[in-house]
Amino acid sequence: MKVLVTYYSRTGNTEKVVQCLKEGLEKGGAEVDLNPIELKKEINILKGIWWSILGKTIPIKIKHHDVQQYDMIFLGGPVWVGNPFAAINTFIDVCDHIEGKKAVVFLTLSSKGAQSALEKLSHRFENRRAQVIDTFEFSTGPKGKSLKGVEMEKLVEVGRDFTLKW
Ligand SMILES: Cc1cc2nc3c(=O)[nH]c(=O)nc-3n(C[C@H](O)[C@H](O)[C@H](O)COP(=O)(O)O)c2cc1C
Repeated sequence: MKVLVTYYSRTGNTEKVVQCLKEGLEKGGAEVDLNPIELKKEINILKGIWWSILGKTIPIKIKHHDVQQYDMIFLGGPVWVGNPFAAINTFIDVCDHIEGKKAVVFLTLSSKGAQSALEKLSHRFENRRAQVIDTFEFSTGPKGKSLKGVEMEKLVEVGRDFTLKW
C-alpha cells in the first residue's frame, strides 16, 4: 500500500505526530511519502487566524500534488482558533486526482475538541469527491507535554492499525 502524508507544522508538533504515524504505517508494510506543506510567503499570525476562521486558503509549496499513485492520503496540521490552519485547506483544493481517494484527516491542538475543525476538512474533501475514511485529533498538551512516551507509542499503533484495517 502506498500512502502520502501531507502536513503543515509551524512549531514542530504535527511533525512529531507525523514521524510516529510514518513509523506505524511502515511497520504495517506501507510505503510512505511525506509531503510537508511550506508557505509560499510567511504570513502574519493575525492574518493566518482570520483566514483560518473564514476557511480560506493560503498559497503553498509542496512536492507532491498529484495523488494518483497513492492508495491512501493523510492530511494534517494544527488547529488555529478552533479551525484547521488555512494552508491545510489549500492542499485539498490544489491536489490532482483526488476523486475517489481514501483520505484520513488529523489535527493537533494543545487542548481537546477538534471535532468541528475535522468536520470542516472532511466536507472540503467530500466536495472534491474524496472518501474520508477516518479522522482523529492529537492533543499535544500545554507546551507539547504529551508529545512523548506512551502517547507517542499509541500513535505508532494508530499508524499500524490503518494498514491492518484498510
Ligand atoms: C494562532 C494559534 C491558534 C491556536 N488555536 C488553538 C485552539 O483554538 N485550540 C487549541 O487547542 N490549540 C490551539 N493552538 C495550538 C496549536 O494548535 C498546537 O500547538 C498545534 O499542535 C501546533 O502544531 P504545529 O507545532 O505542528 O504547528 C493554536 C496555536 C496558534 C499558533
